[in-house]
Amino acid sequence: MTSAVSLARFLSEAKRAGGEHSPQEIAGLIHAYQAHDIDDDLMTDWLRAVCSAGMSLAETAALTQAMAHSGRILEWPLELGTIVDKHSTGGVGDAVTLIAVPLAAACGAKVAKLSGRALGHTGGTLDKLECIPGLRTDLSLDEFVRQVGRVGCAVAAASAELAPADKALYALRDRTATVQSPGLIAASVLSKKIAGGAAAIVLDVKTGSGAFMASQAEAEDLGRMMIQVGRLLGKRVDVLITDMNEPLADSVGDALELDEALSVLEGGGFSASLKDVAIEVSTALVDAANGSPPGFSKGAVDEALEHGAGRQKFLEMVGAQGGRLLELRRDFHATGQLAAARDGIVQAIDTRAIGELVAKAKGAVASSDAARTVGVRLRRRAGQRVRKGEALAIVFGVEFSPALGEELRRAVLIGDAPRTPRRFMMKRL
Ligand code: URA
Repeated sequence: MTSAVSLARFLSEAKRAGGEHSPQEIAGLIHAYQAHDIDDDLMTDWLRAVCSAGMSLAETAALTQAMAHSGRILEWPLELGTIVDKHSTGGVGDAVTLIAVPLAAACGAKVAKLSGRALGHTGGTLDKLECIPGLRTDLSLDEFVRQVGRVGCAVAAASAELAPADKALYALRDRTATVQSPGLIAASVLSKKIAGGAAAIVLDVKTGSGAFMASQAEAEDLGRMMIQVGRLLGKRVDVLITDMNEPLADSVGDALELDEALSVLEGGGFSASLKDVAIEVSTALVDAANGSPPGFSKGAVDEALEHGAGRQKFLEMVGAQGGRLLELRRDFHATGQLAAARDGIVQAIDTRAIGELVAKAKGAVASSDAARTVGVRLRRRAGQRVRKGEALAIVFGVEFSPALGEELRRAVLIGDAPRTPRRFMMKRL
């Protein structure tokens, strides 16, 4: 038996017995997995042990460090000041990055945003941005650094050189149902951001029926853990807890969400929820970049939105990444609508069901161009009145079949009880 195999077996048993690993043991395990000295089965055994026994703060910090240092750590020119990045734990109708990043850059922050693709029922920023003809998200690390220096922000896919151990481990966790462990999630999120060279990180931790963290208590525990791990590793981490019991935007679907985000930057928008959360996240980014106390930069962010500086910065960013915004089509083809079956008040919207419905419909469309236009636009939110026959939701880009209509009907619950509209921004930790 090799020493790597013995280490993996020893650590799995120790974890199951309630033991705590040393940083060297964790670094050794990650190194051995990356070098293929231990196989997926042994690694999964350890992941399962962690999922049931948990990890201490010190262990989570050690895992974060080991994964962050499994590849390149991006270095930023000192003259750019504090580099900030943000991360959402995954939402539906969550187009916050498209607004918050250019707004923060318009206020002087240097935002190096590493983004991902859709995961399960949640959407991905890269998929939304790539609706813009010509826009590239596969920037090389040199292009990424140069663009942040020149424009103030860039949104790009995390290169294969950054935190490769997290990429391998995340794929294994996805296959083996070992995603749902706070320590593993915290280490996964923070290792990528640390590898990207961010000195300060803003985390939008979603909670509710459409989020990976169903309860607010779980979301806050995860948020606090990430702040403490950040502190141990010398990073400022700010956490916002936001509601995902309802889609954040009225739109769910790549091109529709991009359109709604653009509308917010243009001074319009649909419901206020997307704009409100984007302003809070942007404020946290500018505060972090300037070392200011929480909420200090809100006035500057409001002004940047109101006077169009955020929109201007978005145009600059898109242009720098090769995007041709003038060619973006914003006329969407509605295929049908869900009409209210009775008078009443919308009680709840099943966020996960709507996310799943859009993800499934996208998967069923033949071309990737057509898949981008698939989506749902909500016409009523929880707490709003509706009359029988009025539209509750409009479907785009995919055939409005009876089955789809029925799924949508089950996702929007109408009743009679008065309901106060949701406040999406819940707490800043
Ligand atoms: N997002 C991540 O990047 N990693 C996780 O483990 C969960 C959500």
